[in-house]
Amino acid sequence: MVIGIPREIKNNEYRCAAIPETVSELVQRGHSVLIERGAGTGSSISDTDFVQAGAVLTDCQTVWESSELIYKVKEILPPEYRFLRKDLTILTYLHSNAHREMTDELLKSGCIGIAYEDITDAAGNFPLLRPMSELAGKGGFFMACQFMQSINGGGGLMLTRVSGVATPEILIIGAGNAGMGAAEMAASLGNRVTILDVSIERLESARNRLPSNVQLLYSNQSNLSSCLSRVDVVFNCILWPKARKDHLITRAMLKAMKPSAMIVDVSCDEGGAVETCRATSHDNPVYREEGILHYCVDNIPSAFSRTATYSLANATLPYAREIADKGPVRALRENPHLRKGLTCFYGILTLEETGLKQSRPYKRPEDITELAH
Ligand SMILES: NC(=O)c1ccc[n+]([C@@H]2O[C@H](COP(=O)([O-])OP(=O)(O)OC[C@H]3O[C@@H](n4cnc5c(N)ncnc54)[C@H](O)[C@@H]3O)[C@@H](O)[C@H]2O)c1
Repeated sequence: MVIGIPREIKNNEYRCAAIPETVSELVQRGHSVLIERGAGTGSSISDTDFVQAGAVLTDCQTVWESSELIYKVKEILPPEYRFLRKDLTILTYLHSNAHREMTDELLKSGCIGIAYEDITDAAGNFPLLRPMSELAGKGGFFMACQFMQSINGGGGLMLTRVSGVATPEILIIGAGNAGMGAAEMAASLGNRVTILDVSIERLESARNRLPSNVQLLYSNQSNLSSCLSRVDVVFNCILWPKARKDHLITRAMLKAMKPSAMIVDVSCDEGGAVETCRATSHDNPVYREEGILHYCVDNIPSAFSRTATYSLANATLPYAREIADKGPVRALRENPHLRKGLTCFYGILTLEETGLKQSRPYKRPEDITELAH
């Protein structure tokens, strides 16, 4: 199969879908890999690195027009719509529920679209979300270290244990992939860390993985309120249901926090668990509400693009390889986890979430004759 890797064109997106190791594996299996010149530059991977791994370097148009599988990172943007066509398969983060116009274009073209974020594993988890969540949690901690500095407008606290000085207190809400990433960093620097979660299993697993300077509490209003009044940094790492309208941390609750405290909203759901969250960008990452500093960047991993590229490419390769080896229809028919990510198939919407959110007709992939087992 001919696999194309275009350069990402979204603002502040420095990741690339492939790494040289990915390319050599695909080439060794008999596939051809076309890479757009400069696709790896944002992740410090040179064109030469890709050529040495067996890729053919070319321009954007040739990558899109000559490939059967487009393997990328972000959703399809307007300049890329003209390349969509029926005999093309796209494997990427699509987030079709948030992009109505792109969904129209995908359906109109009749291409096959498979979304990383909806692919599942045997335990029902999302293996292509996990690596980025971990990096967002870890990266969010580095951002807290940066924006806590007085030279950056923060409270001037160094987030580590220093002799003779009170140890900073850090609250992490949600002990999932992101929360555990933040907790690992915060705890390893000696901070006093509290994790809140509603899942006892998640708290149990956190207890086994983290050192004893981490307290594990059940998430309820009483524990949350007492933590909020004394901590220096709050990390929101909950996977908040999209339909939920209430908030865990309301605007009124910010008044009980220390004025020097900050909130890092890793989950970054506007109107979600943190009422005062609004998504920000790396260009303008922080703002204050009720005097409390908020950091709400919705693509933290792209600041750590090389790490993120390697981590994402390792996780996505098995799916790209299966599509390339078997062809998309057989791969989708044989792999129920890949099928969960199917967003559109020859003009039919196959993702229930997008169908419901955008009031569009949709079909379950299992009800499509070509995909039935
Ligand atoms: N900002 C970014 O750049 C970025 C990047 C990747 C992921 N994310 C986001 O990070 C969030 C977390 O992702 P994840 O993979 O860690 O999710 P996850 O499902 O692994 O973890 C979520 C945790 O929240 C817990 N939880 C649910 N309700 C709770 C409550 N009321 N109180 C306390 N805990 C509660 C769950 O039990 C679970 O342990 C998601 O919203 C994801 O979209 C952000």
